[in-house]
Amino acid sequence: MKNEIKIFSPATVANVACGFDVLGFCLDSIGDEMVIRKTDKKGIHITKIEGFDLPFEASLNVAGVSALAMYEAANPDCGFEIEIYKNIKPGSGIGSSAASAVGSVFGMNELLGKPYNKTELTQFAIKGEALASKCEHADNLAPAIFGGFTLVKSVSPLEVLEIPVPENLYATIIHPQIEIKTSESRAILPKEVPLQDAITQWSNFGSLIHSLHTSDYDLIQKSLHDVIVEPYRSKLIPHYREVKESALQNGALGAGISGSGPSIFTLSKGLENAKNVKEAMEKVYSKTGITFEMYLTKINTEGIKIL
Ligand code: HSE
Repeated sequence: MKNEIKIFSPATVANVACGFDVLGFCLDSIGDEMVIRKTDKKGIHITKIEGFDLPFEASLNVAGVSALAMYEAANPDCGFEIEIYKNIKPGSGIGSSAASAVGSVFGMNELLGKPYNKTELTQFAIKGEALASKCEHADNLAPAIFGGFTLVKSVSPLEVLEIPVPENLYATIIHPQIEIKTSESRAILPKEVPLQDAITQWSNFGSLIHSLHTSDYDLIQKSLHDVIVEPYRSKLIPHYREVKESALQNGALGAGISGSGPSIFTLSKGLENAKNVKEAMEKVYSKTGITFEMYLTKINTEGIKIL
């Protein structure tokens, strides 16, 4: 059995407009790399972090906390070293903490001979994610582990449903280089919602799931609306309305806040449309003076993988 493994832990988009805290999908071209190594010395030790300034103390690091949760459950006769090569900026809205949280447990599981299934790995990773967002939810974790679109049917007990990915679906994402902390963008949300808004939201959510099962792009377009969370969080993202309108006018099926922001995601049918959407969003933001990154990717159906 191997003693060391290098993995790619992908970025993800959570919420997907109408699926707050339950729906997410996996991205292809952006993610973190991590090296996990078995050691004689017991315990979890983070030995290297590149890319961003994050704590080395395992109990204070998202990857460390999920690793500790699994380590306590597995009680192996070895320890683990973790190296983190972080490409996803913390506070970006594309699942930075989730990528860290799943990376450590996925790597350790491989080195232990895969004692845990994907749902169990997600369960351990929830502990790490909770350190960052102050709340246990799995809508970024599940797509990173399972790939594709995932629906977190329930957190306790954890139940994840895999939703089919229409063949010709592309995501374009703009990431303004400002940081929004998940815990803070959760704190501004209302505790109660009007019944009419709830009705609209679950109608859109149900039809979005149906549209993904049937590859019905028109229905995807009609379903990608969020009347509950977007009105609050969009205020935190500079030029949100202009970017969204420009994406929709240039052929996007829909657009919304990626996770807790500030990234904005769009979905498009076909690469050409996705490229036009990218150009349109880029045009809006290049006039603002705010630096930004852009990503155009197919939906990653594989999820986290060994490199
Ligand atoms: N569903 C979460 C939120 C994703 O929007 O707060 C970010 O962790």
